Amino acid sequence: MAQPSSVYNQCAGCHQSGGTGLAGAFPPLAGHVSEILSAKGGRDYIIQLLLYGLQGEITVGGAKYNGVMPAFAQLKDEQIAAVLNHIATQWGNDKMLPADHKAFTADDVKAFRDKKLTAAQVYDLRKTLGLK
Ligand code: HEC
Repeated sequence: MAQPSSVYNQCAGCHQSGGTGLAGAFPPLAGHVSEILSAKGGRDYIIQLLLYGLQGEITVGGAKYNGVMPAFAQLKDEQIAAVLNHIATQWGNDKMLPADHKAFTADDVKAFRDKKLTAAQVYDLRKTLGLK
């Protein structure tokens, strides 16, 4: 198994080790991953966010961000599953997950490998979640 926290090192430069993000540049993951996972379609969305990145203006916690989230398709399926499980359970997110939440598996990630979306298409997908 991939070590979840070691994969998160690749995210921490932007989202910070405490998941706080950086004002004006990188959205927080604390309190926000649970929000994504509670939205209808959020589970499938967050896998594709990791595989294909994201580009477009979003609002998180009342603040606007308009940056580029890089794609992490170079990671193995199990590494993506591990980092998703990490961010879903850190910083209080574990207390706000939907009741039917299940841990991500490598197979969950693999199922989206052939979608081959662009970061802009991931943005379109995000709009269907009803997040702000
Ligand atoms: C180079 C900086 C950078 C790195 C590295 C990075 N991100 Fe991001 N991330 C961003 C930016 C910028 C956004 C917001 C994109 C936008 O404004 O469209 C974002 C958004 C997100 C979101 C919220 C998406 C949404 O729809 O609200 C999540 C979750 C996320 N990143 C997880 C991760 C994880 C997990 C990693 C590590 C595997 C990671 N990020 C690595 C810059 C980064």
